[in-house]
Amino acid sequence: MIYPIVKFGDPVLEKRAATVAVFDAELKKLIDDMFESMYAAKGVGLAAPQIGISRRIAVVDVTFKENPDARLVLINPEIIHTEGRHTQSEGCLSIPDFRENVGRAKIATVRAQDLDGNVFEKTGDDILARAFQHETDHLNGKLYISHISALKRDLIKRKIRKLMKKGEW
Ligand code: NI
Repeated sequence: MIYPIVKFGDPVLEKRAATVAVFDAELKKLIDDMFESMYAAKGVGLAAPQIGISRRIAVVDVTFKENPDARLVLINPEIIHTEGRHTQSEGCLSIPDFRENVGRAKIATVRAQDLDGNVFEKTGDDILARAFQHETDHLNGKLYISHISALKRDLIKRKIRKLMKKGEW
């Protein structure tokens, strides 16, 4: 099932999502649906709050279907180590048609659980490190625009409010 993507302005995007404690068939189905929804929206990462489900689950595929091994499921993820700094243009499916340069750690190690609840750690650099940080932020109610200047953030919010008024958001 393809879920619609929740956009900026919905409070679900700005609250801390709940820890996952049960690893059952319902969770596996939800994760299948999250991959399907992410690909349908042309994204390389999706967090459950972006489909209105406030649980600590994210899916990532920075190769966008090129490499099946790149499909990653992150349940209850935490960033446990970072190195370096890297600034790059970043966007978010919940803030469509906007992009900004965002400074992030260049290398990031995430500790998470897989579909069966097994704990694993994975280190990524560049785009994968960025995805780990962006998606983990989502589960803490944080959007990438919190990492840019107040001036740029207010500009984006003003533009979004205008779109909302016109019914185009
Ligand atoms: Ni996002």
